[in-house]
Amino acid sequence: MTNHEYTAPVPGLDAVEVPEPGAVTIVVPTFNESGNVRRLLQLITESVPARLPCEVVFVDDSTDDTPEAIREAAQDCPFPVAVLHREEPVGGLGGAVVEGLKAAGSEWIVVMDGDCQHPPSLVPDLVATGERAGAELVVASRYIEGGSRAGLAGGYRVAVSRAATWLTKALFPRRLHGVSDPMSGFFAIRRSAVTPDVLRPLGYKILLELAVRSRPRRVAEVPFVFQDRFAGESKSTAKEGFRFLRHLAGLRTATPLARMIGFGLIGASGFVPNLLGLYALTALGLHYVPAEILANQLGVAWNFLLIEQLLFRDRRAHRRGWDRLGRFALLANADLVLRIPLIALLVDRFGMGALPATALALVLTFVLRFAGTEALVYLPRRRAGNRTTARRAV
Ligand code: GDD
Ligand code: MN
Repeated sequence: MTNHEYTAPVPGLDAVEVPEPGAVTIVVPTFNESGNVRRLLQLITESVPARLPCEVVFVDDSTDDTPEAIREAAQDCPFPVAVLHREEPVGGLGGAVVEGLKAAGSEWIVVMDGDCQHPPSLVPDLVATGERAGAELVVASRYIEGGSRAGLAGGYRVAVSRAATWLTKALFPRRLHGVSDPMSGFFAIRRSAVTPDVLRPLGYKILLELAVRSRPRRVAEVPFVFQDRFAGESKSTAKEGFRFLRHLAGLRTATPLARMIGFGLIGASGFVPNLLGLYALTALGLHYVPAEILANQLGVAWNFLLIEQLLFRDRRAHRRGWDRLGRFALLANADLVLRIPLIALLVDRFGMGALPATALALVLTFVLRFAGTEALVYLPRRRAGNRTTARRAV
């Protein structure tokens, strides 16, 4: 995959020293945390190995001297420490965690931040709870009794985190049943429950990705107090917030039915620019017929932008932007042009009333437009290789 530079683990992480099953691999994603890693390893040393054999794998995308700081601090650790430095930070924080999950050797894996906001003393408890409850995933939650988000800096972050949690739970009521804190970056998962091939991490919310796509069978929670950062600053930015929304949209529209619903909602939202455009153009003195036509293009452009960003983000590569826009606009306008004759047909030939005929025509052209958009704009063109796989799959 990417150019991983596997730094010789300290002390050597070779096959002999990979812990027995029942032990834990602690995966820590780091991005410029040189001021924190020594403290983190200290805290782990104080609270984990006496209760549970462990190894630590840092997955690092830093541009500073974090890998060196880890190597140095690791010399004082009574457990194996490995640094996996990525030259290309594919998938950001979530991508890093997945690399760590793949590299982990033990039965349990605990993922935690590198800035000491997650108390390492909880690592053995997470694993013990998982063993006791027969769970595949154990989430350290700020939102159950005994937990708190004390270290979440500022009212703004708290409000954003609340809203994000609420939205996420509302979008995945079943998959996140029993998970009070899907935004948590601190959790334990059984290695057998991780399915790296279906994961497509994007940014911060790797727990959400795992809970939705890997579908762990039983989930448990342990309360924890989100601490203050030890050193440095949060790496989360507004850009990360937009990435999160894209991630949510991608997760929610993984099936054709969900995509169709998303397509419909985006289409409905297109009325706003459409009507605003109509209002502006007629106010400027344009006749309402050309104004309608132009304003409709505004709605089409709006829909196209949202659909590209939220629904078909991963399926754009096989056609150029103009090609996709042209095809999309053609389908959208064909829908409009075809609707009236279709209504006339339903009324004259099939004797339907104007209202039900219009409703039916709207639904029919909508489904056709959705199917057309999938098939003609975003479906990858078939290559010989694809066909072979398809045949084998049947
Ligand atoms: N490898 C890698 N690559 N690590 C990263 C990257 C990246 O692109 N971005 C951030 N990290 C590391 C940081 O170095 C840190 O160890 C950890 O991921 C969390 O990053 P922070 O920047 O400290 O995140 P936060 O404190 O704002 O957010 C944390 O709490 C949230 C809950 O409010 C994270 O755990 C979030 O996942 C969590 O939702
Ligand atoms: Mn943090």
